[in-house]
Amino acid sequence: MDSIPANRRYWNQISRAYQHEHDPQIGAAPRLWGMYAIPDAHLHALGDVTGKRVLELGCGAGQWSRSLAAEGATVVGLDLSEAQLAAAARAMGTVRYPLVQGAAELLPFAAGSFDLVFCDHGGLSWAPPHLAVPQAARVLRRGGRLVFNAASPWFEACYDDDARRVTTTLHHDYFGLNTIAEDHGAASYQLTYGDWIKTLRGAGLIIDDLLEPRPEPGTLNGYNETDPPDWAHHWPAEMLWITHKP
Ligand SMILES: C[S@@+](CC[C@H](N)C(=O)[O-])C[C@H]1O[C@@H](n2cnc3c(N)ncnc32)[C@H](O)[C@@H]1O
Repeated sequence: MDSIPANRRYWNQISRAYQHEHDPQIGAAPRLWGMYAIPDAHLHALGDVTGKRVLELGCGAGQWSRSLAAEGATVVGLDLSEAQLAAAARAMGTVRYPLVQGAAELLPFAAGSFDLVFCDHGGLSWAPPHLAVPQAARVLRRGGRLVFNAASPWFEACYDDDARRVTTTLHHDYFGLNTIAEDHGAASYQLTYGDWIKTLRGAGLIIDDLLEPRPEPGTLNGYNETDPPDWAHHWPAEMLWITHKP
C-alpha cells in the first residue's frame, strides 16, 4: 500500500500534460492496446463485451471505458487520481458510465461483481501485483476474465535510466525488477515471468494465454524512445495476460 499516496500525487501532477501528449494516440480509435496502439481486432484479447459488467482498473482518461460502454458493456472506470478521473469525466461520450476513485490494492467492490476486469498499463502496472491480482480475482464472478497489458520484463531490464531509453543492453537485474522507481517518488511494479505465473495462479486464476504484442516495423512507441527504433519488432515490449476465474 506504500506507493498509493505517491502514485496518486504523481498522476495528479502529470495528468494534464500526459493527456495532452498521449490522448491523441490512446483515443484515436476504440480498443487500442499499449505503447504501440495495436488494435484489439488484431490481438483478440477482450472479446465481445455486450451486456457484460466490466471494471477498468486504472482507467486514466477512460479512452477504453468509453469505447466499451458505447459497445453496450456496463462499465465502471476506477482510478487512483482525481485529475485522471476528471479527464475521464470531461471526455465521457453520450453513453455515461460511473467513475470511482480507488486503488487496485483494495477494491471497493463486492466479491463476484464483474464479468471482466481489465487494464492497459493501469492498476496491474502501478500497484504491487501480490495485492492487485488477488483483488481483481476477488471481484470477478466465476468464469469471469482478468485481462491486462503491461510493459514486459524485457523492456524494463533493457531500460537505460540515464539515457531514458530502451536499448539492446541489459541494464537491470531481471531477478531484481520488483519495484521500479518512477519520477517524483512514484513507483510501478514488475515481476519475473515465473512470478507472474505464480501470482496469477496463487489468486486462483487460470492462465489462458500470454500475448506478446508485436508492432510492425515503423510503428513508433508513443511513450519511450527505443534504440533501435523498431526494438519492439525484435523483442516483446509488452505482455498481455488473458486469464479467467474457474
Ligand atoms: C498509464 S495510465 C493507464 C490508463 C490508460 N490506459 C492510459 O494508457 O493512459 C495509468 C493509470 O493508473 C492509475 N493508477 C496509478 N496507481 C494506481 C492504483 N494503485 N490503483 C488504480 N489506479 C492507479 C493512474 O492514475 C493512471 O491513470
